[in-house]
Amino acid sequence: MSKQELIQDAITIRNKAYVPYSKFPVGAALLTKSGKVYTGCNIENAAYPVSCCAERVAIFKAIADGESEFAEMAVVADTKRPVPPCGSCRQVMSEFFGSSMKLHLTNLHNNTKTVTVEELLPFSFQPEDMEEIPK
Ligand code: THU
Repeated sequence: MSKQELIQDAITIRNKAYVPYSKFPVGAALLTKSGKVYTGCNIENAAYPVSCCAERVAIFKAIADGESEFAEMAVVADTKRPVPPCGSCRQVMSEFFGSSMKLHLTNLHNNTKTVTVEELLPFSFQPEDMEEIPK
C-alpha cells in the first residue's frame, strides 16, 4: 500500500465523521505491519469533552482487534497546513507506535508533512517511567 493510497483511505473515512458541533471532519488511516488498514473519523458528543478524534478512533479499533504492530498512519482535514494531531492523540500514539513510525499529515490540497512519533511528542511519558528505581 502506498502513502497516497493510505491518504485516500483517510479522505474516504473523513466523510463518516460525526461533527455536528465543530463541523470539522477529520479522517485517519492506520496501516499495520501485516498490511491491514484501520480507519477512523472524529465522533463528537453534546457533552463536548467526550468527543474522540479520528486518530484515536483508528488506533482503538486496531487495538481492540488485537493489532499491535503498526507501520504508518495518514491523517487528513480541511486545513491550510497539514493537520497537526492534538496532544491527547500524540500521547496515545506514543503508547502504541514505535518512536520512529511515520505519520503522513495532510490536507485536501495534498500538502503533506511526514513526521515521526518522536518528532510529534518528544520526551513523552512512557510505561517504563512508572518502573521503580531499584534499591
Ligand atoms: N480533531 C481530530 O479528530 N483530529 C485532529 O488531529 C485534530 C482535531 C477533531 C476533534 C474535534 O472533533 C474537531 O476535530 C475539532 O477540534
